[in-house]
Amino acid sequence: MAVLSRRHLQRRAEQSAASAAHRAAATAATGAPRDAGSHRFTDTVGTCSGREGDDGTAQQAPRPAPERPLGLHFPSGFRWGAATSAYQIEGGAKEDGRGESVWDTFSHTPGRTRAGDTGDVAADHYHRYHDDLDLMRDLGLHSYRFSISWPRIQPDGTGKPNQRGLDFYRRLIDGLTARGIEPMATLFHWDLPQALQDVGGWESRDVAYRFADYAQSLFHTLGDAVPVWLTINEPKTVVQNGYLSGHHAPGRSDPDAAYLVAHHLQLAHGLAVQALRASSAACRIGPAFNLHPCYPADDSAAAAAAARLYDGYENRLYLDPVFLGSYPADVLADLGPDSRLARGIRDGDLAIVAAPVDLLAVQYYTPIYVTGDGQTVRRWTTSEADWQQIYPDGMLDVLTRVYRDYGAVPITITENGLPTPDRMAPDGTVDDPGRISFLRDHLAAVHRAISTGVPVESYHVWSLMDNFEWAEGYEQRWGLIYVDYPTQRRVFKRSAHWYRRVIAEHAI
Ligand code: FCB
Repeated sequence: MAVLSRRHLQRRAEQSAASAAHRAAATAATGAPRDAGSHRFTDTVGTCSGREGDDGTAQQAPRPAPERPLGLHFPSGFRWGAATSAYQIEGGAKEDGRGESVWDTFSHTPGRTRAGDTGDVAADHYHRYHDDLDLMRDLGLHSYRFSISWPRIQPDGTGKPNQRGLDFYRRLIDGLTARGIEPMATLFHWDLPQALQDVGGWESRDVAYRFADYAQSLFHTLGDAVPVWLTINEPKTVVQNGYLSGHHAPGRSDPDAAYLVAHHLQLAHGLAVQALRASSAACRIGPAFNLHPCYPADDSAAAAAAARLYDGYENRLYLDPVFLGSYPADVLADLGPDSRLARGIRDGDLAIVAAPVDLLAVQYYTPIYVTGDGQTVRRWTTSEADWQQIYPDGMLDVLTRVYRDYGAVPITITENGLPTPDRMAPDGTVDDPGRISFLRDHLAAVHRAISTGVPVESYHVWSLMDNFEWAEGYEQRWGLIYVDYPTQRRVFKRSAHWYRRVIAEHAI
């Protein structure tokens, strides 16, 4: 019997939906829920024995000051960056003809986000991008990974592009280039135009074709100015959070729909790659996947089998079609021959999805440990994001695995980071040593991967600045730069000063 049967997925979705409802009730009662809703569809049910202390925290040896250099130099062509996404930082929700996205609808629906937070203002980057560009220059960034808001370009998801939306990104891109920072643009970071959701969203095959039209208009207008384009940010998160647990927009909880959505997102990716090749733009393109290494929680054969299938749902479902031209047989079998995914794959689709890419964007946050009955358990300390276990070796495993199983595709790491409880001290400084240790340890893993031959060309911290963390609102702070939301003042955290030195010395 399949370990992760559809029934099991449905049960997990119901549990997550119940916890979201609980959170909404807490918000209504207190204005600020105490139980953190999980960002990911990881439904932690317990801890593995033997690795944690009696108080539940992982046992760790005393560590040196996080700034202390490890003496690890990176190859000369390696590039340092930071990442953001449109809805999380821009604000300006009604400016210059921007349409509504599913995240506007979702965040304005009572009980959906912590404290009812929305991205209406966010970090007000839409109005402050010029100053933010100067901060990026001061940090010494080589590369800035941002996303383009589809509803700024096509307010209703179709038709002629909105010139004022294009102009904003043209100014941003030119400002980056003028400061010697390479723009890396993501076409879709979850803010689907609401008008397209109204006609079925990613459940509709047609939306993949709408995405290709949108991509084509961007390649036509901005293509040459952006050396690297990324297609879809984390299709898995749309599938799992948007359509399984429903704690992200569009807030659905329907496993069968979820995997059809996965296919349409993959199809959209492939169509965008084809659109770029058909354009005259001389730039590179690839997908952005968040990869979770999946480990058996114990030595049993059942745990090994369950972890293998979990890996299918977490990683191979996205990597295989793009790099091997097929969906993983175990996942297809687990979903069954009558699944909407199986029925939704048409002749020729996989050839589109597997259109050759120039690079792979990898985002790494956490490992997953799976028991013999397909439950997930915690083994390492979690960050403020309860779905995130801090395990730097997972970065090494993910990178070496991609190299081993999918060949020497150039890799850019487009997200890696954690939230920490940052506060501004009376003297105006923000001390976040935990972020420095985290980044240093993960960069040491990247360094090891590179020394074993994995072609990693760049690394981007998530995130450049504090921002709207989806269902978690503004509570979690993920940035190198602190944002004081009432004044929109920006302050370099201690980690930003550290990262500036890392970039200058090209070493950790
Ligand atoms: C990633 C998302 C990004 C941010 C980080 C914390 O999954 O791509 O927008 O939410 O997690």
